[in-house]
Amino acid sequence: MYKDFTVHTRIYFGEHALDRLSNIEAERAMIICDPFIVSSGLVRHITDRFDRCGIRYSVYSDVVPDPPVEKVIAGVKAALDDKPDCLVAMGGGSAMDLSKSIRKMAEQLDGSYRPRLIAIPTTSGTGSEVTSFAVITDNEKGVKYPLVAEDMTPDEAILDEELVKSVPPAITADTGMDVMTHAIESYVSIDNHEFSAALAEKAIEICGQFLLRSYADNRDSHARRKMHIASCLAGLAFNSSSLGLNHGMAHQLGAQFHIPHGRANAMLLPHIIEFNSEIDKHSRSKTAYPPCVRKYCTIARTLGVQNLNEVTTIRALIAYMEFMLKEMNIPLSISEMGVVSEGEYMARVDAMAEAALADACTATNPRYPTKEEIVTLYRKLWK
Ligand SMILES: NC(=O)c1ccc[n+]([C@@H]2O[C@H](COP(=O)([O-])OP(=O)(O)OC[C@H]3O[C@@H](n4cnc5c(N)ncnc54)[C@H](O)[C@@H]3O)[C@@H](O)[C@H]2O)c1
Ligand SMILES: [Fe+2]
Repeated sequence: MYKDFTVHTRIYFGEHALDRLSNIEAERAMIICDPFIVSSGLVRHITDRFDRCGIRYSVYSDVVPDPPVEKVIAGVKAALDDKPDCLVAMGGGSAMDLSKSIRKMAEQLDGSYRPRLIAIPTTSGTGSEVTSFAVITDNEKGVKYPLVAEDMTPDEAILDEELVKSVPPAITADTGMDVMTHAIESYVSIDNHEFSAALAEKAIEICGQFLLRSYADNRDSHARRKMHIASCLAGLAFNSSSLGLNHGMAHQLGAQFHIPHGRANAMLLPHIIEFNSEIDKHSRSKTAYPPCVRKYCTIARTLGVQNLNEVTTIRALIAYMEFMLKEMNIPLSISEMGVVSEGEYMARVDAMAEAALADACTATNPRYPTKEEIVTLYRKLWK
């Protein structure tokens, strides 16, 4: 069966990338962001430019983390009332995913209405500015749904590192590990191919070189620019190859306990590498390994931790990921986070495992998990 690879989004990047906003063809725009973007003054990067070039705009600042269905409905109403010819999503994955869903649903309700969508990420994490995914939460059911539709992909993305300099260390850590997880899951996905692999490899290399630097100094322009680009590269990679069990399981932790998306991925990552590679700390060398082991070894080489053989290299890769978590003060287990009691967590493990198995991301994991195996992984994550 043939494959295809398309980039739907025009990407503006480099110094003063935001100046692109002075050249867009639009009369009226709706800026979609969270309240922090307004209170911190970040939104003025857009509004000042629009004021100067005479583009009228409204600001819809009702975005919340893990956007729920109700926010999509409210946003669609605001968009259809005003019918701006351009939507500008400014923020992290939550603002971008909400904007993508708003445009899609508004178009479904009024077939003649399809505004241009410009995505301006302010975290280096989700890559949502170039993907056809939007993750929407059903708070009542406690489930996160990854929606996938090619026509949700933003038309333009603007990557300007000035916008990420205000990201505090904890969010830099979480979102940066989201980038790392996107790139790794894309690389070992059963739908991976040479184009996605090239993008993922570069993203992994940049994470290895610049994530800790971004964490240590949030005003390090060079590191910030590199991580912002890595986030987009990883987004392009997984947009084509999809993700895996790591995300399938992380979505449930986000929906049930509101654990930040990147943090949930980061905590799971060492466990998922161990599960997929079938190499644990007691393993000895074998004559044959699952195919993903070779790919994990390439990832280890890219990060500079390849050594003696497959077993020692995979163990080194897992240790590397655990080190990254420790170095950036990301808890290694749910119990360490203190967000939920053991009883409450364990009571929800079965339902989470069921939802993770059904999650669209899990389908492309290199090892097909059973529900029982996912239950075991969730239990291991407790401590
Ligand atoms: N569409 C996709 O392809 C995709 C991929 C991965 C994750 N997601 C989804 O994206 C969401 C997570 O996105 P996220 O990790 O970017 O977080 P987020 O958008 O929820 O933002 C997290 C926090 O960071 C703050 N923030 C954002 N920019 C900031 C800045 N410049 N300075 C200081 N603070 C800032 C926000 O105000 C918020 O409090 C989840 O819902 C996740 O499921 C989507
Ligand atoms: Fe993610």
